[in-house]
Amino acid sequence: MQIFVGIDIGSSSTKLVAVDETGKVVFVTAPEYSFQTPKPLWAESDPEDWWTATCSAMKALLEKVPAESIAGIGLTGQMHGLVLLDGAGQVLRPCIMWNDQRTAEQCDRITERVGREEVLRITGSPILPGFTAPKAVWVQEHEPEVWAKVAQILLPKDYIRFRLSSVFATEVSDASGMSLIDVGKRDWSPTMLDACGIRREQCPQLTESTAVSAKVSSDAAAATGLKSGTPIIAGGGDQAAGAIGCGIVKPGIVSCTLGTSGVLFAHSESYKPDAQGRLHTFCSAVPGKWHFMGVQLSSAGSYQWFRNKLAPGVGYDDLNEEAAAVTPGSEGLQFLPYLTGERTPHPDPLARGSFCGLTLRHGRGHMARAVIEGVSFGLRDGLEIMQSLGIHPSRIIASGGGARSQLWRQMLADIFHTPIVTLNISEGAAYGAAMLASVGCGAQSSVETVCANWLGETSVTNPSDAQDEYDAHYQIFRSLYPALKTVFAATAQLDR
Ligand code: XUL
Repeated sequence: MQIFVGIDIGSSSTKLVAVDETGKVVFVTAPEYSFQTPKPLWAESDPEDWWTATCSAMKALLEKVPAESIAGIGLTGQMHGLVLLDGAGQVLRPCIMWNDQRTAEQCDRITERVGREEVLRITGSPILPGFTAPKAVWVQEHEPEVWAKVAQILLPKDYIRFRLSSVFATEVSDASGMSLIDVGKRDWSPTMLDACGIRREQCPQLTESTAVSAKVSSDAAAATGLKSGTPIIAGGGDQAAGAIGCGIVKPGIVSCTLGTSGVLFAHSESYKPDAQGRLHTFCSAVPGKWHFMGVQLSSAGSYQWFRNKLAPGVGYDDLNEEAAAVTPGSEGLQFLPYLTGERTPHPDPLARGSFCGLTLRHGRGHMARAVIEGVSFGLRDGLEIMQSLGIHPSRIIASGGGARSQLWRQMLADIFHTPIVTLNISEGAAYGAAMLASVGCGAQSSVETVCANWLGETSVTNPSDAQDEYDAHYQIFRSLYPALKTVFAATAQLDR
């Protein structure tokens, strides 16, 4: 038996999925850790926690299957994080994570140096505070003693590749989220590197997602139980790998992932960045292709926040029932899901979550429903941008924790006016990384082939007659951010 392993270095856990040659999941584990928020807008993580979790996940797998059966390992993980290593390969400071929002000023400075149009043309997106390059500039400005020692810059999953193999390598889908590559040319951009004060040799080797970019070293074999020489496939950023797990490898289908963050994702055969920079246009994990991506920072994460803070101890099924008992539109209660700022369609680190329209009639069920509706309306904002670029999906593949709820799937079908489909695979990015590993090892001939062989539909939810009701409420939702933008900025001034 051949086993393909996908490892996803997430924000709060490292998920390992092992898949056999038919695509069947044979083992899943996800050791957890936490990240730190030492100041408002900051989010940092200790890379050693990822490595400890990777070793324990791998040991747990190897209690079930022999190390000889592991044909290859595909890596994926949270995008945009900045891991800094010195010349001896030691981590210099905690990783500054994707949801860290401290770098608004650095984004402005780099954009001014390069010019906004040129930034969009080269990187396929505006430079946003969560991205990697402005974090490097922040370290140069605020921790020059740390920056002076930096020999290598790595993304989170590529730090694990380094620990597994001593090789510094990344791939184009994750590197697209650094604001340092020429996304059209799929290579490091001298213009962006110069503007950010980064030397080419501080960046890892860059490959396509299906390349075998390293092999497990003897040290890592001792730490994990793997066989030395096991191939490590390049993999992809979590969104790019997750999209492979949803079969988004050709035009016409869009995926919608309801995880901590929420992502709308569409394939593109050519590099055509949105001239207004409203969506990210990044390299796909399908070699030689691209994708459009709209990112909502707090998606199912908003619902998790609501449950944890306002309904602690209540199960999601019970909370969903309370929400389902409320009529569409939550009797006029709106929720803005900008709990950690926002990216699409409002790239604003200072935006805040808000309930608007509370009355004495509203209770917890209304608030729970308003949160799910607000997240769904925010995702419709992203879908409308895709539609304006000529992407008109006939169905949308939903995945992530939120997609397990029928209430949420029905709401998305109604708010998007499009059928919502779920697949037989619910292991997300880690599964996508295992698929990339199967292609990298030559067991499957292409990414398109492995999608056709391993993925199947399990449910379709069609739009209901609640669509008009939601449309009316969506119009109000759309008007709220423009009305509150200056309030958010003034609040942030007071809350420094
Ligand atoms: C994608 C993004 C998040 C992170 C964390 O651009 O910021 O999805 O990758 O999962």
